[in-house]
Amino acid sequence: MSSTIRLLLASALAVQAGAATIKIESGPGGLVFSPNETKAAVGDVLEFHFVAGNHSVVQGDFDNACHPATTGGFYSGYLPALNGENPNVFSVTINSTEPVAFYCSQGKHCQDGMVGVINPTNAMSFATYAAAAKSATQNVAPPAVFGGTVGPAPKETSSTVSPSGTASPTTSVTPSTSTKPNGAGIISVSCGAIVAAVGFALFLA
Ligand SMILES: *[C@@H]1O[C@H](CO)[C@@H](O)[C@H](O)[C@H]1NC(C)=O
Ligand SMILES: *[C@@H]1O[C@H](CO)[C@@H](O)[C@H](O)[C@H]1NC(C)=O
Ligand SMILES: *[C@@H]1O[C@H](CO)[C@@H](O)[C@H](O)[C@H]1NC(C)=O
Repeated sequence: MSSTIRLLLASALAVQAGAATIKIESGPGGLVFSPNETKAAVGDVLEFHFVAGNHSVVQGDFDNACHPATTGGFYSGYLPALNGENPNVFSVTINSTEPVAFYCSQGKHCQDGMVGVINPTNAMSFATYAAAAKSATQNVAPPAVFGGTVGPAPKETSSTVSPSGTASPTTSVTPSTSTKPNGAGIISVSCGAIVAAVGFALFLA
């Protein structure tokens, strides 16, 4: 794909779908991220909430589980939630629709399955990454926070901006029920955007 087409696609997706905020909880009820798999479009923001325990989130390398991505990526540092949710969240902007694996770098949390995947495929999914993580010999934390911002959690999570003409924004309050319908809405809108962007790019060519 030419870089012109790619740029047009990315901007069409961002404009057409609107940037959504995708809430991911770290530590609810144990060593888990919830949801453990979700879709995200270019421009969407992953908002990691630290609700219990003392966890971090690191973008992982699919070929070397529990180790940081070899290029780019993100690391939140530790955001302890020992007396209720940590007041800060870690926000990461999604730059591509390639699968992204992430894990908690605390102790053996990664090996114990505290991992997740954005934009999973059959080969690169929560299940495949968690299986690889089980036998990882080390769980590695990057030296410093990067690739996102640590800051105060928004008051109310009505931050998900729905694509125009779909469900009301207030449906985002409960992440477990809202991320899938919103994701599906974004995907269906994005298909239209892709067709439009490709058509426009061909027109220019
Ligand atoms: C991953 O998430 C799915 C959907 O919420 C859930 O059914 C499943 O139990 C989770 N897997 C693990 C190992 O936590
Ligand atoms: C959280 O975990 C990190 C890494 O193990 C540690 O350095 C830090 O002291 C812990 N914080 C609390 C409040 O336990
Ligand atoms: C997106 O790009 C920015 C700037 O290059 C980078 O800092 C960040 O880590 C990237 N995000 C992801 C999820 O790779």
